[in-house]
Amino acid sequence: MSTPSARHLAMDILRRTLDNNQDVQAAVDDVLTAASAAGPDKGLATELAYGYLRLRGRIDFILAQLLRDPLRTSPVLKRILGVAAYELLFLSRIPEYATLDWAVSLVRERLDQTMGKVANGVLRSLLRLGRAVHHPEYYQLKTAGHDNFLAAWCSCPQWMARMWLDAYGKEQAQAFLQATLQAPPLGVRVNRLHPRAGELREQLAPLATEQTTWGFALTQWPDFLNDAVNEGAATRQSLAAQRIMDALGVEHWPAPVLDACAGRGGKTFLMAEMGKEVWASDVNVFRLRQLRGEAARTGLPVPAFRAPAQGPFPLRRAPRAVFLDAPCSGLGVLSRRPDIKWKRSRADCAGLARLQGEMLGAAAELLPSGGCLAYVTCTLNPAENEGQIAGFTREHPEFTCLRQAQSDPGDNPGEFFYGAVLRKNEAA
Ligand SMILES: C[S@@+](CC[C@H](N)C(=O)[O-])C[C@H]1O[C@@H](n2cnc3c(N)ncnc32)[C@H](O)[C@@H]1O
Repeated sequence: MSTPSARHLAMDILRRTLDNNQDVQAAVDDVLTAASAAGPDKGLATELAYGYLRLRGRIDFILAQLLRDPLRTSPVLKRILGVAAYELLFLSRIPEYATLDWAVSLVRERLDQTMGKVANGVLRSLLRLGRAVHHPEYYQLKTAGHDNFLAAWCSCPQWMARMWLDAYGKEQAQAFLQATLQAPPLGVRVNRLHPRAGELREQLAPLATEQTTWGFALTQWPDFLNDAVNEGAATRQSLAAQRIMDALGVEHWPAPVLDACAGRGGKTFLMAEMGKEVWASDVNVFRLRQLRGEAARTGLPVPAFRAPAQGPFPLRRAPRAVFLDAPCSGLGVLSRRPDIKWKRSRADCAGLARLQGEMLGAAAELLPSGGCLAYVTCTLNPAENEGQIAGFTREHPEFTCLRQAQSDPGDNPGEFFYGAVLRKNEAA
């Protein structure tokens, strides 16, 4: 295997996602599509990029102990050292000399000879630390305050550790944070309306590590699933996304349902596959185009139109349910989207909470009496979750909250959603 090209690809993915703000999966797709590298190189590049993003906080903390002046160190040097440190600490199949070799060469190429010597020295010092850096005590001894310890050991920004400690307490906050460091399994949903649904479920059940009402968690994606996806018999969807819909009793929601943040239609088609009438809207035309592609693939007719979920909605009749799978800070899906934690700020969370409040207000107006309002986020932030719903019911006493659901820190597969279902009461 020619490993150096994997490192160049990983660096390009990280540049796009951390410096140019591209979503990590989109960056991986773009870089790997353009690359001529062989399959194993692409696999290693993806692993390095995701692994570094998941563990960057811990790695930067260790490197800060070894660099003479961490705050004034060149970002180029830090990034190369970070990816090399990820290899040395977490990928035992790569010989240490190979890692030192590519990292020092790349530093020389992008900076200069002197910096190459610095890189060599830092990586050799890292190796001398041995197993100590794999134990929480190393970080506990070098940090003040539980938030700073968690930020280093669990690799997240300090504000996030502080927010989760305040919201969920020490034990749960640490359990949520630990879960973000694991790669989640692959999720698949079987289209129960498809003639091959029964046969497909029988093929998938023995391969699955977990099961939901609609789908399975898999450690590997079998080839036969590609055909099933092309025929509209199966759809990629995380288990956590399927489970929150189950926990909110989606089968009981009255139709037609307006899915007002439908995106590419992940949950839209889960509802359509139940035989529900669903209308889809979103502000993002690119995602709506993908949703229309999904309608063609699955053969399920879902009308789709562009509208902001804060209203107004260009509708001739009111839906009986509004589903808001709201834009949110995404802190519940960091295992799948580890770039998010390095891009979000507390201020973003507050801005998103305001937007969600406006969307809930517009849905409240649109729904008739007896209508159902379902709200979902993929984040762990009370202001966007239970606090948002508590504020909404205070402002809208005509709504009763029927159910709330929140993934537990112990839940597999380590992705966390929140949801609530509310009913608009008959006018007195
Ligand atoms: C969590 S994603 C939805 C995921 C989708 N429901 C699924 O299961 O695949 C949130 C969606 O809200 C959309 N969005 C963001 N701001 C919006 C707004 N003001 N009005 C309507 N949709 C918005 C985004 O484009 C994105 O598709």
